[in-house]
Amino acid sequence: MRAKIIGTGSYLPEKTITNLDLSALMDTSDEWIKSRTGISERHLVSSETETTLSMAVNAGKSALTDSGLLPEDIELIIVATVSSDFITPSTACMVQKELGAVHAAAFDVNAACSGFLFALNTADAYFQAGIYQNALIIGVETLSKIIDWKDRSTCVLFGDGAGAAVLHADPEGIIANLQGSNGEGGHVLMCKNRTNNNPFITTDTCPDYLYMDGQEVFKFAVKKETECIQELLSQAGLVPSDVSWYLLHQANQRIINSIARKLKLPLDKFPSNVGHCGNTSAASIPILLDEIHRSGMLTQGDLILLSGFGAGLTWGAALLRW
Ligand code: ACO
Repeated sequence: MRAKIIGTGSYLPEKTITNLDLSALMDTSDEWIKSRTGISERHLVSSETETTLSMAVNAGKSALTDSGLLPEDIELIIVATVSSDFITPSTACMVQKELGAVHAAAFDVNAACSGFLFALNTADAYFQAGIYQNALIIGVETLSKIIDWKDRSTCVLFGDGAGAAVLHADPEGIIANLQGSNGEGGHVLMCKNRTNNNPFITTDTCPDYLYMDGQEVFKFAVKKETECIQELLSQAGLVPSDVSWYLLHQANQRIINSIARKLKLPLDKFPSNVGHCGNTSAASIPILLDEIHRSGMLTQGDLILLSGFGAGLTWGAALLRW
C-alpha cells in the first residue's frame, strides 16, 4: 500500500505585506523584488495568538474536513517545520492535542523547505510497511520570527503559513519518490537556534538569524530539482509531458521558470503562488496543492509531481496519482 492524498487544507495569516510596505522599511523596491523573484506580497502573522501551532491546527482541521476522516482515525501526525514555537514538545504533539487525534503517534521533521516531501515520504514508508493506514502531514512556518529584518537580500523573500494533507493507504497513491541530503553544503543556508547560555563560552560567531548565499542556493535548486524530476520520471517510465502538474517548492519564480525551460515544458504545467505567498519553506508545496485542489484544477487520475529543495542541504520529490 502507498500513501494517497485524500484531503488538503491550508492557512495563510490575514495580514498581507506588499513590496511597497517593505520599501517603506528598507532600501528596496517593488521592481527589484518582483523582477528578481516574482514575489509581490507575502502573509505574515500579526498577533501573539497567530503562531506556528495555530496555523498548523487550522490547516490540519481543514484537511481533515476535506478528507472525511475524523481526528481519532489518524494514526500518524508528522509536522515539517524549522520554526516551531517550542523546542519541546514537538509541534506535532501539540497539534495532536488540539485536534483530539488521540490514536496518533506524532513527531516533527526538520528538512527545511524539503520538509513536506520528507514527511510525505516517511508516511509512505510506514504505509508500505503496513504499520499505519491514515496519516496527517503538515508543513508550517513562521519564518518572520527567524528572518533578519535588516538583511534586505533575504527578508523580502519569505512568508508565513501552513499547508496540510491527509493520507490514506491505497494501492494507487505514490508511484515513485526520493529524498536526499548533502550536509557539506549546509553553510549556504543556515539559522542558529538560540544563543548559547553556557557561562563558560564567551565567543559566539554563528549568525542568529537566517543567513543565505542566494546565488549558491539558486544554482543548487535548479540543478537538483531538475535531476530529481528526471530521476522520478525515469523510475516510472514516463516523459515530462506525461505529468499533469508539477508542484515545485515556491522559492523564486525564476527557479521555477528555469526548471520548466530545462524540461522543455510550458509554464502552465507549473502552478505557482510565490507571487502572493513568498517563500513559506515547508508550507509552500502543501499550500499550493490545497489552492489548486480547491480551485478545481485537479481531476481524478491526474499525475502530480511534487519536488522541493532546501537548507541542509536537502531535496525530496514524489510522483503520485490524484
Ligand atoms: N532590494 C534591492 N536591492 C537588493 C535587495 C533588495 N531586497 N537585495 C539585494 N539587493 C542588491 C544587492 O545588494 C546587490 O547590489 P550590488 O550589486 O550593488 O552589490 C544586487 O541587489 C544584486 O544582489 P544579488 O544577491 O546578486 O541578487 P540576485 O540576482 O542573485 O538575486 C536572490 C538575489 C533573489 C536572493 C536570488 O539569488 C535567489 O532567488 N536565490 C535563491 C533563493 C532561494 O531560493 N531561497 C530559498 C532557498 S531554500 C529555502 O526556502 C529555505
